[in-house]
Amino acid sequence: MPPGRYNRPLPFKPGWIPRGDLMQAIEGHADGIRRAVATDAAALAEFAARSFVDAFAPFNRPEDMDAHVAASYGYGRQLLELRDPAMVTLIADGGASLRAYAQVRPATPPAGIVAAQPIELRRFYVDRPAHGTGLAQSLMRAVRDAALEFGGRHLWLGVWENNPRAIAFYAKQGFIDVGSTYFDVGSDRQTDRVMVAAL
Ligand SMILES: CC(C)(COP(=O)(O)OP(=O)(O)OC[C@H]1O[C@@H](n2cnc3c(N)ncnc32)[C@H](O)[C@@H]1OP(=O)(O)O)[C@@H](O)C(=O)NCCC(=O)NCCS
Repeated sequence: MPPGRYNRPLPFKPGWIPRGDLMQAIEGHADGIRRAVATDAAALAEFAARSFVDAFAPFNRPEDMDAHVAASYGYGRQLLELRDPAMVTLIADGGASLRAYAQVRPATPPAGIVAAQPIELRRFYVDRPAHGTGLAQSLMRAVRDAALEFGGRHLWLGVWENNPRAIAFYAKQGFIDVGSTYFDVGSDRQTDRVMVAAL
């Protein structure tokens, strides 16, 4: 065949996979994961509060749960977070309600923990019916893409020391335990493990 437009070398190697914005522009994230926008604030407020209560109410005093939910969630707070250019919120739509969300922002880890170009995985929640389905893995891929777009080299998080399922999940995702920090649920000061993964 003479040289022509149909047999020119490809502009990339076979098997090359585009990342970040380009990947998302081509095919979107798996499981319908996308960046939340201001009009998602109401759905996010509902899901964020409900998923925190679902995960942690059995282990905390009701008054501590109420205080934490009142201080941390709600339409106005979610709207501010969605409008914050220094934070990315990723969601998985699910019809009547969200199925998962995560929040990522550049932030330094707790004292004593050193990580170059650190990005915090601030929240990471999957609706209980979707646990064990692979949605969490898809969400983590989207988290990593968002962290790379912030220019990050390390992703860090705090996870309650008595949350073995989440700790096991993060370990399988390449996070290692590097120390501890505190997290207040109402009046109850709890210990979080701090875990870090290279991006
Ligand atoms: C944490 C979370 C996102 C993980 O998603 P997931 O879909 O449940 O994760 P997976 O099922 O893929 O992986 C969890 C692993 O922990 C294992 N596991 C379950 N219960 C466990 C326990 N009590 N102890 C240790 N490992 C446990 C599972 O078997 C699984 O491992 P496997 O794949 O080798 O079987 C999800 O469980 C969640 O949203 N939980 C509630 C909110 C939460 O805790 N968020 C984290 C805040 S830091």
